Amino acid sequence: MTLTIGERAAAMLAEAAAISEPGAGVTRLPFTPEHARANELIGGWMRSAGLKTHIDAAGTLIGRREAATPDAPTFLLGSHQDSVRGGGAYDGIMGVLLPILALEEFGDRPLPFAVEVLCFADEEGVRFPTALIGPRALAGTLDRNVLEMSDRRGISLRDALDGFGDPAAIGDIARPASTVLGYLETHIEQGPVLEAAGLPVGIVTAIAGIERHAVTVTGRAAHAGTAPMELRRDALCAAAELVSAVERICRETDQAVGTIGHLDVAPNVVNAVPAKVHCTIELRSAEDTIRTRVAERVAAAARDAAAQRDCSWQMERTYQQPAMACAPRLQDALATAIKTAGQRPLHLMSGATHDASAMADLCPVAMLFVRCRDGVSHNPAEYAAPEDMERAVVVLREFLKRLASDEDS
Ligand code: GLV
Ligand code: MN
Ligand code: MN
Repeated sequence: MTLTIGERAAAMLAEAAAISEPGAGVTRLPFTPEHARANELIGGWMRSAGLKTHIDAAGTLIGRREAATPDAPTFLLGSHQDSVRGGGAYDGIMGVLLPILALEEFGDRPLPFAVEVLCFADEEGVRFPTALIGPRALAGTLDRNVLEMSDRRGISLRDALDGFGDPAAIGDIARPASTVLGYLETHIEQGPVLEAAGLPVGIVTAIAGIERHAVTVTGRAAHAGTAPMELRRDALCAAAELVSAVERICRETDQAVGTIGHLDVAPNVVNAVPAKVHCTIELRSAEDTIRTRVAERVAAAARDAAAQRDCSWQMERTYQQPAMACAPRLQDALATAIKTAGQRPLHLMSGATHDASAMADLCPVAMLFVRCRDGVSHNPAEYAAPEDMERAVVVLREFLKRLASDEDS
């Protein structure tokens, strides 16, 4: 029985999803035995599609097809192999497999540009407190100090990378911008917009910028029975106001989202007033100025919440990534490809971050989103229908054909 392209994509994703740490869903972290097995499987698919494979110094698996002429620039397609803990089978890896299927159409026929499919090692940032080292190394923006960061078991990124890539050569793989035409990332939407619109694919306009803060609220521990309410310095009550303030401010702003995803309480016992709370605040928006304004309002709310209870507070920014706009020319080319494939082009922004956000420092970037069931992602229930993946492959093929005719003319 001949499988459709969509069915082949689903079968390949299922095979890749089986390469996981034990437990529910997919857990495939970078520079692990699971990553090595995934590279072997995906590298085999790349080679069957006529691509020549290698792994670069940052651990990115690359499958390349040459252009008609040796000095022609390269167009890049791809996404990441890694998952969150207990994640789904689509986030990242689908954007590696669909381009491989799309390139089959061209057989031995050279295009006026070389094409590479990139399978980045680490986009999720789950194992090390950093991410995107593959695209950053290609863009020449990697801070080499991140190689000294350690995972929970004390293994440094430098040691983990050794054997996959080459930490000593990671500074040498930056691509000259003149050699790269652009980067297109295909990704499950991870949200509900396409499903609500009844559309299989969409065009990303921008990837939200992110900032993360570490907050400490300090009050005073006291006996839960004897300390009168009005004399308490309860750090958790102050932090609770901060949690509400983040929600309120982001809802009022409408164009920002904010999350307090981690919270530690001390002493964290049933009969003591909380003395200290550590929490994180993450803010995202497609507009950096809006995100910055929200951060200022959140900081003011934290100050007020702490002051009302005679607590002290500290807020330190630990991470920042600017918003990234997708290239209008590539968005237009995607819109034409989507229309040629018989679909209505819909534009939407991405609240999740992607390898594309770091590739934007190297070249024009674009993203094709694929409809996702119930908007669910970072969850074993994550799902994209085979028919939608097939439509995405058709769009990728049309996109490359259009790019080829633009380059020829
Ligand atoms: C990763 O998926 C993120 O957006 O944080
Ligand atoms: Mn992803
Ligand atoms: Mn993800």
